[in-house]
Amino acid sequence: MEKFVIKGGCRLLGEVTISGAKNAAVAIIPAVILAEEPCVLENVPNINDVFVITHILHEMGADVKILNKSTLAINSSNIAAKEVSYEMTRHIRASYYLMGALLGRFGKACVSLPGGCDFGVRPIDQHIKGFEALGAKVSLEHGMVSIEADELVGGQVFFDVVSVGATMNIMLAAVKARGMTVIENAAREPHIVDLANFLNSMGADVMGAGTSVIKVRGVQKMHGASYSIIPDQIEAGTYMVAAAATGGNVLIKNVIPKHLEPISVRLRKMGVIVDEYDDAVRVFRKGGDVMTVNVKTMPHPGFPTDMQPQITMLLSVAQGTSIVTEGVWDNRFRYVDELRRMGAKIQVDGKVAVIEGVEELTAAPVRATDLRAGAAMMIAGLVAKGVTEIEDIYHIERGYEDMQGKLSCLGAEIKKINDFSKSALTAAL
Ligand code: EPU
Repeated sequence: MEKFVIKGGCRLLGEVTISGAKNAAVAIIPAVILAEEPCVLENVPNINDVFVITHILHEMGADVKILNKSTLAINSSNIAAKEVSYEMTRHIRASYYLMGALLGRFGKACVSLPGGCDFGVRPIDQHIKGFEALGAKVSLEHGMVSIEADELVGGQVFFDVVSVGATMNIMLAAVKARGMTVIENAAREPHIVDLANFLNSMGADVMGAGTSVIKVRGVQKMHGASYSIIPDQIEAGTYMVAAAATGGNVLIKNVIPKHLEPISVRLRKMGVIVDEYDDAVRVFRKGGDVMTVNVKTMPHPGFPTDMQPQITMLLSVAQGTSIVTEGVWDNRFRYVDELRRMGAKIQVDGKVAVIEGVEELTAAPVRATDLRAGAAMMIAGLVAKGVTEIEDIYHIERGYEDMQGKLSCLGAEIKKINDFSKSALTAAL
């Protein structure tokens, strides 16, 4: 079992380059299934979720070539509409995009219910509602979701909850359906717009992405395309918080500052300086403590739930008491026990955390309970007094490209070890 070992107390200084967006990539990669011609994807993040989804496509018969570190060429013309087993989907929640993509291409899909991060019930009822609105029949047996349509016909879809996954899945299914599909109460995240742009570059006709009403006019044929994935809003936000928490000064490059606004606004309220450039932001503090702020996570353009553990960690060393409310997931505060072990004073009642800032955190052995919680633990390790060990780092590697390397370039003392013994720890630092 591998762990990260972090020596706390350094200020992050320098420049970091943000990779392509995970939650765009895991939808755009399955979307190539719709093209039946070669596609080239650039700015693909080097993360385990991407390896897994690409591997699934390869197992299904796609020809996948790695052109360079962040560029993939995928030809899906030989893909077969075979079952996608639990063995394939268990490691990645986003495997549900195979439902929409296969349905769009073959008029049928049989995909196992996915795995992924665990922070409460994760239903797919809205995805199913959408597929049914396009005329598909959906059944669930032995953990497999079977979806089939004689002919997909555009329809009216109104989501009862704002869902990123359901919005993208219905876009994928609708691009080749006959007629017009109207998706209401659609999610508006930057990766929704990115998927729409990619689909349009393959010949689809998707309008309104980024608003709560998306219209998809079905086309008969799609073609190959070259496309560059947007930078990762959450990876950028994570380094913004890390810079603020360590009292550092970091230029975060390859970002779209507009996408970061929900995060920048909160950080500024906390007394952190965020300077925006065309495709970069600089984050630093002018001295003094971080101030408190109340945060509620919401679908975009609200404060992203995927930044909730990181901001909670920062508030745990702010001066005074803050309240963080989780507005998207039922149970996303499991990591708080780990932060408490480092001296944080946080009380959780359901979806609300009350955080009383402490002067300093102290190092402790902790776990990454999920991907973003793991990122919060990394930042906590950077600010804590002493040497922090983080277990279950596979969560972090699912979604952050070389976090250890990027933080090290900013001056962090951080090592990856796979030996639990004290002597290995001592040797590591
Ligand atoms: N929901 C339903 N029914 C559905 C779908 C969702 O009730 O059919 C509920 C969920 O239970 C949740 C809310 O709607 O309470 C939002 O869920 P959503 O469908 O938007 O989440 P998702 O598509 O499964 C994506 C990201 C998550 C991110 C959420 C919210 C991917 C692969 N995952 O999940 O990212 O938290 O949107 O923005 O895109 C992460 O990157 O760490 C991560 C967990």
